[in-house]
Amino acid sequence: PRIPMIEEKIQQMSIEEKVGQTAQITLDVLTKGDNIYSSYEPITLDSQRVKEALVDYHVGSILNTANGKALPREKWSEIIASLQEVAMHDTKSQVPILYGVDAIHGATYTEAAILFPQEISQAATWEPGLTYEANRLTAYQVRASGIPWTFSPVLDLGNDPRWARIWETYGEDPYLVTKMGEAAVLGYQGDDANHIDSLHVAACLKHFFCYASNSGKDRTPKDISISTLHDTFLVPFKNAIEKGALSVMINSGIINGIPVHANKEILTHLLKKELRFDGLVVTDWADIENLYQRDRVAKDHKEAICMAINAGVDLSMIPYDYKRYCTLLTELVKEKRVSMERLDDAVRRNLLMKYRLDLFDNPVTRSKEYPEFNAIDSHEVAYQGAAEAITLLKNQKEILPLSKEAKVFITGPNANTLRPLLGGWSYSWQGDKADRFGDMDQTILAAAKRTFGKNNVDYLPTVTYTSGRYDSETVINMNQVIRRAKAADYILLCLGENSYTEKPGDLHSLMLSENQQALALEAAKSGKPVILVLSEGRPRIIRNIEPKMNAIVQTYISGIYTANALMDILTGEVNPSGKLPYTYPMYGNSLTVYNHKHSEESKTPEGMYDYSGGFYPQYPFGFGLSYTKFKYTDLKISSATLHAGEKIRVEVAVKNVGERTGKEVVQLYTSDHYASITPDVKRLRAFQKIELKPNESKKVVFELSVKDISFVLENGQRIAEKGAFSIQIEKLKQEFALEETVSFEKL
Ligand code: IFM
Repeated sequence: PRIPMIEEKIQQMSIEEKVGQTAQITLDVLTKGDNIYSSYEPITLDSQRVKEALVDYHVGSILNTANGKALPREKWSEIIASLQEVAMHDTKSQVPILYGVDAIHGATYTEAAILFPQEISQAATWEPGLTYEANRLTAYQVRASGIPWTFSPVLDLGNDPRWARIWETYGEDPYLVTKMGEAAVLGYQGDDANHIDSLHVAACLKHFFCYASNSGKDRTPKDISISTLHDTFLVPFKNAIEKGALSVMINSGIINGIPVHANKEILTHLLKKELRFDGLVVTDWADIENLYQRDRVAKDHKEAICMAINAGVDLSMIPYDYKRYCTLLTELVKEKRVSMERLDDAVRRNLLMKYRLDLFDNPVTRSKEYPEFNAIDSHEVAYQGAAEAITLLKNQKEILPLSKEAKVFITGPNANTLRPLLGGWSYSWQGDKADRFGDMDQTILAAAKRTFGKNNVDYLPTVTYTSGRYDSETVINMNQVIRRAKAADYILLCLGENSYTEKPGDLHSLMLSENQQALALEAAKSGKPVILVLSEGRPRIIRNIEPKMNAIVQTYISGIYTANALMDILTGEVNPSGKLPYTYPMYGNSLTVYNHKHSEESKTPEGMYDYSGGFYPQYPFGFGLSYTKFKYTDLKISSATLHAGEKIRVEVAVKNVGERTGKEVVQLYTSDHYASITPDVKRLRAFQKIELKPNESKKVVFELSVKDISFVLENGQRIAEKGAFSIQIEKLKQEFALEETVSFEKL
């Protein structure tokens, strides 16, 4: 859209002013040289540095916090108000600053903000309504901190369990990610993407697209077919763009040999033209520099800037040496290697974002205008999110739920710290400030004492995380484990991972750490029942200890109320209803996702080949136990044939045949029997979470369209091929036929 006020500004701006609008720096650049470890030192803006960046170089955007510090919200709004004061009054162009922050599960850099479950936990709820609420409240917290833009949600697929950012995703399935992503965007932005009010923030879909790798390590290359790219990785982004998402952050990786930051085909042709995205395209951290320093597709900084801007970048997260960037881009424009038209397009998209956020008229929001910060509904949503995410994976002889009179022996590295429950981007990038700024009453140990009574809880530190690298551990007291366990009725073994994100979270092995496995085996030797609580951001392999565990509960990274919700589940106050949003692998060399191809059959645990398409996860995608049982009957479809433009109505009856009220996620999968591109074994097409009282039954109805059973050819064309399909809900199946092949608009 062309907005007269924006067009007028663009016309009046000099090249230097325009270039500045495409530059984003980190707050560190503007503060007085604080020491990274002196977290209590107040952050002070350096007025000379601020003037240089905003007035002399016309920088238009700032991100993150200084020195990784969480700040009180009042301090945040004060900082942003003084930056806006300079941008609006001391510059000729009078364009407000666009401030962005990684508020990915609450205002993650705001002290004392309620932190909601991370994305992977939200996906495990299979309840998009909870994601909507968590993000609506996050937007409120972020606005209360004076910030109008969050770098969230992640819409990448978490389909490689080795990857250090899988917990930042909504899991491995494109449909689940799409539904959660849609709720996330609407929660952040509200209903009107063209006019974001002061209760909402702009979302940023990241990382566009196919942030994944062949090796499982962060930011390593991916080689992939167009068919898979468009039929899986693109789907959630496409939908979120249609729902009005205002910005997109670029994937730091390399797809089929080309870094995405230099890929005009992806950024301009696909994103801006075919998907008709009219919002802002921002780079990831220093990724223009990376085009020459790391990826070696540009021979120097200037060529890298030229490539990236011409590929379609609108805003460059520099984040430090902005002066050099501004000088080089100005030269490129004067030399006509970057056209004025391209520069204007980038500036227009930046100004449009600021306009849509109403920053020209209202550049500042003040914390005192947000009295509902951390109000009761934030607590309820944070708790509910955790309670519906936590997934019961094993419950041998129905050992759970426990009596509140039970004597419990607690150990393991995750028992007495908040860090693994809050995860990365929690008061700091790596989540290492969580224990300082979070509420230590919310550790598993503290919650267990409240639940079972102080005198019934014994705690022994055994394996603990050492400071420094997230995965280094210290081992003490191992020789006391059996004796202490014998004095209790149950062992609550709190294992998993510490917090991490991005490269620092790369792994050499997906196995649970050797120390933690040794602790599990030692605890089991006591003969007391072991309840394994796994708080982890990705499924760490537990094959060696699993047979000795009596119950297994996966908490993921479910935010500030993880421990409270866990206790309510362990004691039966809450009936677990979380379902895995990823396949939980059993072996390091069998990391297949559920929607794999038929050819990916593997050996059975007994060493026999299985040609039925079987694969052997520890637990399958969509799995999760309850304290009640559900019976599925009467799967019916409205027609055994389907034509272009028609829909099939699918219904199934679900009954609670157990003794407790419970929630169930009804999951509908389809399989294409034969297709010109090898079909997936099955694909999730719809789901619904329902609640049933004992003996209650409900008819659940879904609708399937022809597009729902389509796929993308290697030339990018989406089609549904005629032939036979099956529909599967739980163990029930029905077949239908598509009578003619249908082509859709590309994508
Ligand atoms: O938003 C993040 C991104 O996900 C990873 N690199 C840094 C960005 C800004 O902090």
